[in-house]
Parts: sequence; structure tokens; C-alpha cells
Amino acid sequence: METIVLDHPLASALLTQMRDRATDNPGFRSALRQLTQMLVYEALRDAPLETFDVDTPVATTTGYRLASPPLLVPVLRAGLGMVEKASSLIPQSRVGFVGIARDEKTHQPTPYMESLPDDLAGYPVYVLDPMLATGGSMVHTIELLVQRGADDVTAICVVAAPEGVETLGAAGLPVRLIAAAVDEGLNENAYIVPGLGDAGDRQFGPR
Ligand code: URA
Repeated sequence: METIVLDHPLASALLTQMRDRATDNPGFRSALRQLTQMLVYEALRDAPLETFDVDTPVATTTGYRLASPPLLVPVLRAGLGMVEKASSLIPQSRVGFVGIARDEKTHQPTPYMESLPDDLAGYPVYVLDPMLATGGSMVHTIELLVQRGADDVTAICVVAAPEGVETLGAAGLPVRLIAAAVDEGLNENAYIVPGLGDAGDRQFGPR
């Protein structure tokens, strides 16, 4: 699986703000939005463009737009904090939703909602989830997309655990991964170490 880890001083500083337990909910959401912008830039680096004529006040010249804007799929609830920035960068994008809760005892993903277009053949899809921990939620989400014909999926995450990267790579799905960091590993509660805690709680407060 192609795996791209963002290598940029600003990304390191924003990630540090998110890791810091002293960062409050608004500060965490703000850093997540800014980091999402950088991750989406990276995801779009080689995106195909189409050309059209654009009139400047002076002359007609060649304009560019994305040939195929992606479907954005935030995984609820933690992915919610990434979707507004991603869709403002790519205003033509559509948005689908997948809801997956984590069983705190078994650490297994428990799907509770999906709202996705029926036909995704030939359509790039960006799955937005800040944390790639065991990889279970991401694999489940991408399987839903592949059932609808998707064959070009990008998982956009802030922090990944090596275990999640391994699971996602071994699943044989048409996916590449873009993350801001690959951390040390998972603890006994399947939290990423050092990680940043529960990305949903850090954005929205504890349930
Ligand atoms: N989900 C989170 O929000 N944090 C982790 O560390 C692992 C899964």
C-alpha cells in the first residue's frame, strides 16, 4: 500500500498542538482543520486537471479545474472535524457519511450508519478519519465503498498506528494512506501511543 507521511514543519507543529493534553476542544478543532488542509493538499498533488477557457480582465487564457472531484467520506464522529475544511478546499466534492462506534471492551468497530452514493465506479473517494488505530473501522468503511464500485480510495488520517497500517495494507483494498505521523503502536485499550487521546472527545468533549 502506498503510504505518504506528511513531512513539513507546520504539520509537526499542528500535530504537537493536537497531541498536547493542555489543548482545549476549540484549539484541538482548529489545529485539526489546519492539518486537514495540508493533508488534502497532499492527497490532491497528482490529481488530474481539465482545462477550459477563462477570461481575465485583459485576455482569454487557459483555466484549470479538478477533472474528477472526490467524494469525501468522514467517519463519524471523529472525521466530522475534517470535512468542513476538506469540502471548502474542494467545493465541487460530494459528501457521504459512515458512522462507526468503537466497542470499548472488544475494540471492534460497530457500524451504525451509512449514507453513500450507490455507484462509485471511477470516482475517487477520500475517507476522513483522524485516527488509524487497529484499522478495523477503516477496512469496514473501504469495504462499503468497494461494494459500490470504488477502486480509487485515499485514507486521510492524522495519526496512524503501525498495526493499523499493516491491517489496511493486508486487506488487499484499492487504497493509499496519507497521514501526518505513524506512531509507536497501540496500548492495551487500543489507543495509539503516544497518539493524542480520543479524537472525538478531544474535539467535542466526552460522551
Ligand atoms: N481512536 C481515537 O480516537 N484515539 C486512539 O488513540 C485510537 C482510536
